[in-house]
Amino acid sequence: MSMRRVNVIILVLLAIAFLIIIQRNLLNLSDFLHKENPDAGMILPFESELSPTLKKEPVRKGDEIPVLITAAEERLGATVAAMNSIYFNSKANVVFTIVTLNDTVEHLKVWLSKTKLKNIKYKILTFNPEILKEKIPKDPKTAEAAKPLDFVRFYLPTFLPDAEKGIYVDDDIIVQGDIRELYDTNVKPGHVAAFSDDCDLASAKAIVRGAGNQNNYLGFLDFKKASIKKLGMRANTCSFNPGVIVANLTEWKNQNISQQLDHWMELNTKEDLYSKTMAESITTPPLLIVFYRRHSTIDPLWHVRHLGNTGAGNRYSLQFVKAAKLLHWNGHYKPWGRTSAFTEVWDKWFIPDPTGKFHPVRRHAGDK
Ligand SMILES: *[C@@H]1O[C@H](CO)[C@@H](O)[C@H](O)[C@H]1NC(C)=O
Ligand SMILES: *[C@@H]1O[C@H](CO)[C@@H](O)[C@H](O)[C@H]1NC(C)=O
Ligand SMILES: *[C@@H]1O[C@H](CO)[C@@H](O)[C@H](O)[C@H]1NC(C)=O
Ligand SMILES: *[C@@H]1O[C@H](CO)[C@@H](O)[C@H](O)[C@H]1NC(C)=O
Repeated sequence: MSMRRVNVIILVLLAIAFLIIIQRNLLNLSDFLHKENPDAGMILPFESELSPTLKKEPVRKGDEIPVLITAAEERLGATVAAMNSIYFNSKANVVFTIVTLNDTVEHLKVWLSKTKLKNIKYKILTFNPEILKEKIPKDPKTAEAAKPLDFVRFYLPTFLPDAEKGIYVDDDIIVQGDIRELYDTNVKPGHVAAFSDDCDLASAKAIVRGAGNQNNYLGFLDFKKASIKKLGMRANTCSFNPGVIVANLTEWKNQNISQQLDHWMELNTKEDLYSKTMAESITTPPLLIVFYRRHSTIDPLWHVRHLGNTGAGNRYSLQFVKAAKLLHWNGHYKPWGRTSAFTEVWDKWFIPDPTGKFHPVRRHAGDK
């Protein structure tokens, strides 16, 4: 082979390598632009020449981030808005597990498959409320307040059997940060879960003034009852909000957390252990007992809450709400209801129901 011939071959190889590099760079650039503008529908000048399939959102690879959320028929719009905000604020490989009741499955499938969420990864599982029999009070007043899907969080490893670590979020939330940050919350060795403490935010103090003892154990448990006294817990211990949970599911199973929670639910139906003045969901007290001084903490900006409480939600500045990574409308006033604080933030993530069944209820201009 002549020297000249070798030179030509080298030159051709170099040219091919160069073209491959250019192509990869363009592909990555367009991937990037697409991810940054999921809604813009922008068409790049070179895109159609390179590959017509580039307009599709790229498949997300890498470690899966398991996110569990529930879907109640009458609040399905909340679940969809929460998922939309989680998915499009992250480039991570988010995999949703949606737990619902049997009658909601079809409605949910249509909503996800006919909208911009059609490419997300998700699994729909159903919850059988029968397993709560004997575990929630028969008193019709509390039974009314006890929605079966609220208890799904007690059985996280059942719904996320293959995950070592997972996230649970309530449906009345909007995420504004990258969910990976929340996922990276350190669950300390030996701990099962991380929660957000009710004393950690200056803003949470504002709530306490209006709502009595709702930031400590006394607000949730009846310390006069023998079964509670026996535990030797301090009544003024700061409580936590179980609307956002980061959990080590291996530890959850090792420590039999679900069985322990069942035990306290059953005991409560016999001994009435929860505080009478409790305003929050009856899912909180058993969690407070089981995780007493044995849980890690979530960054306060990853659980900015009380947006649904009277007045409280409105005490936040718009600037603070914008800086929050996760907003939680716990309380009575939901952003899909007649009136609530920072409804416009939630509206940005709402996706209308293709079946037309769900509508946010809004006060119209003419209403008094
Ligand atoms: C382009 O993306 C691929 C995979 O997404 C990656 O392996 C490669 O390093 C990226 N190239 C550049 C130049 O960023
Ligand atoms: C669940 O719903 C489907 C129809 O959507 C029905 O065929 C099935 O029998 C239901 N299962 C239960 C356990 O109710
Ligand atoms: C979860 O807990 C197990 C058992 O203590 C531990 O080996 C593992 O490293 C933990 N996983 C994570 C992601 O923290
Ligand atoms: C969890 O339950 C299993 C089986 O019921 C039991 O063998 C084990 O000792 C329990 N572990 C803890 C930490 O309670």
